[in-house]
Amino acid sequence: MEFSPIDIPPARWPPADVPTWLEERLRSRYDAVLATHPDFASRLNVHLPDAWTAFSQVYGTDATAAEWFVRALDAAVEGLRARPASLRRSDRRRGATPDWFQTPEQVGLMCYVDRFAGTLDGMRDKIPYLKELGVTYLHLMPLLQTREGRDDGGYAVQDYRAVDPALGTMDDLRALAHDLHDEGILLALDFVMNHTAAEHAWAQAARNGDDRCRDFYLTYEDRTVPDQFEQTVPEVFPDFAPGNFTYAEALDRWVWTSFYDFQWDLNYGNPALFVQMLREMMVQANVGADVLRLDAVPFLWKERGTNCRNRPECHWILQAYRALMHVAAPGVLFKSEAITTPNEIVRYLGTGGYEGKECDVAYNATLMSHLWHALASENTQLLQRALTTLPPTPDSATWLNYVRCHDDIGWGLADDDVRAVGQDPTDTRRFCADFYAGDRPDSYAEGYRFQVDEATGEARTSGTTAALTGLQQALVEGDEHDVDRALRRTLLLHSVVFAARGMPLLYAGDEIGQFNDYGYLTDDERAADNRWVHRPPMDWDRAALRHERGRVEQRLFDGLRRLAETRKTLDALHSGAQQRILQTDNDRTFLFERMHRDDRLLVAANFSSAAQAVSLNTLPAVWQDTAYTSVLHDRPAVFSSGRLVLPPYGCLWLQPRNHDSEGATTTLPTPVELKVCTEWGEQVYLCGTLTALGAGAPHKALGPLSADNYPRWETTIDAPEHTYFEFWWLKKRDGQVVDRSPHRYAMRAGNETAWQLGTHL
Ligand code: GLC
Repeated sequence: MEFSPIDIPPARWPPADVPTWLEERLRSRYDAVLATHPDFASRLNVHLPDAWTAFSQVYGTDATAAEWFVRALDAAVEGLRARPASLRRSDRRRGATPDWFQTPEQVGLMCYVDRFAGTLDGMRDKIPYLKELGVTYLHLMPLLQTREGRDDGGYAVQDYRAVDPALGTMDDLRALAHDLHDEGILLALDFVMNHTAAEHAWAQAARNGDDRCRDFYLTYEDRTVPDQFEQTVPEVFPDFAPGNFTYAEALDRWVWTSFYDFQWDLNYGNPALFVQMLREMMVQANVGADVLRLDAVPFLWKERGTNCRNRPECHWILQAYRALMHVAAPGVLFKSEAITTPNEIVRYLGTGGYEGKECDVAYNATLMSHLWHALASENTQLLQRALTTLPPTPDSATWLNYVRCHDDIGWGLADDDVRAVGQDPTDTRRFCADFYAGDRPDSYAEGYRFQVDEATGEARTSGTTAALTGLQQALVEGDEHDVDRALRRTLLLHSVVFAARGMPLLYAGDEIGQFNDYGYLTDDERAADNRWVHRPPMDWDRAALRHERGRVEQRLFDGLRRLAETRKTLDALHSGAQQRILQTDNDRTFLFERMHRDDRLLVAANFSSAAQAVSLNTLPAVWQDTAYTSVLHDRPAVFSSGRLVLPPYGCLWLQPRNHDSEGATTTLPTPVELKVCTEWGEQVYLCGTLTALGAGAPHKALGPLSADNYPRWETTIDAPEHTYFEFWWLKKRDGQVVDRSPHRYAMRAGNETAWQLGTHL
């Protein structure tokens, strides 16, 4: 679309009264659009001031900046005009319900198109599978045309307007988006905005002498400036892409390359680049993306003397784009990929007066890394602390919570937090890297170190969820008990992720426990980058086993599906619901509550391999009742001992019990068997929190037990249905207690397993 030359007298810029200015200056420019798009004028009125404020912070307020700003507005208008009617309708619907992406219905899954379904067309055939799992949000990893050879998993884009031919075409992508929308599934696509492939047309043109295109990138004639930057800028991939600059022979210049040497960083100091990238962004939006995952946003702005991460300009740039997208495609969400410290991550969601004006969703890397730390250490102090001090997200935005993604796990444990729990930061981070690389005697993990810091021994971690939780090892070694424990660990992590404030995101294949994939080692283009170990092709043969009762695949798939289904029914899991981390008397457990209107949920998770108990009287008053509904199991849960009992790696989602439903409880015969060695003349009694066990009084303990199978002592208790109870043994001689068990045990009525509680009696 061609517009008349821009004519904005600098003196009148920025206009004091935007609507009037619009009326006067832009009416003729956008006449046709104003006539055909009734919402346009009002959106412009609302978002133009924000767009200009942010834009002018980066590009200035002079006439040249104003001219570029109008160009940006032109790009947005072009996008609006090209936006299909169906997407415009959904923009309007979303505008009427601003929390549309924050409801508990949302459950995400991420995958590579080729590894999951072969092609975009094939992806359409997998929609029933996604629905079976409860997925409502699908993040397809980069699928645009990339350079030949190494392409950083699709993050080296050669053409923003073409799909990778091996996957299909832009039309296929449109058709897929359409089908997904029909089934109520959102589509998230990557927008790789920090860099292009060195083979992108702009870079090619730059090499052929086009200065306009050269200015799209950050290039330097010699090492003087790069060397200055290298003093303060860390490296992302020190192992296989050291340094931040690459010499480009055809240019005879040094190009900024934060990631791989074939990924050229874009120059956001150039307003022409800003405008051009908005055009590219609009193409993705109009193809049907509901969410743009804005890749590597902390890197967008470079400034000498700094670490070139999270500069204020990164935020201005995103805010300018957000405002312009609000004008053109307001229903499209921005998801920031900023894997950095909690305070920095939250800023991408718009804080300090910029709420609703930057990104809408952000990866919750803090939750992710601290969950893994808690699992390895069987201690939740650091997790509790990090989440308690995690800055709140604005109401307009939300977290994306995940157990793992396609990237490595970075041990972003803040020094202050680690010290506050009495540990050394370097030691703790090294512990995590060692544990998940399987290099500790107590480790069950089979992951790998990624980008080792030789000086400190710290490293990031690669590996699938099954490899890191011990499922892979247990299945290979065939130990049923270990398999069970590893499944519990996997479901534990997900139970927290599905209940924490935000939207959960699964990594495809984790729902059937896929193993590490070593195929990348035979591929020269990938062998050096062990993140490929945790990006296995989907194993559809194993997925088919999800319907066979008792199979690992079934237990995992159904466990996750249950989390998704249950989540959807709970108002308390709306993103707008409050979240409060609870301090208890047991640091092996992690408890938090969610509250929305009248709905409340208590999440109680045990990160230890032993059963644990938490005293109800350490919880807020509302949670001190002994009777609850366990919503994941859809049954009552009564804690007769005044303590919440959590099985090894167990997680309960509890709601206050509806007391009307409490009737006379039936009792269930519950067999108990304990191994206790006795001296001649000693007898074993059971004492516990049930009336049948003496309600804690030794002289009313049940017994003596029979020992037909010495040293196993057995009895069967009539326990009230749905009740968790605790017990311990006593040895009596001549009616006098002479010894008692060092540990308590806990059980649920009717259950066959007694858990030894991790805490001493
Ligand atoms: C993001 C991606 C990562 C990629 C990098 C460079 O961090 O998640 O996989 O290597 O950007 O594009």
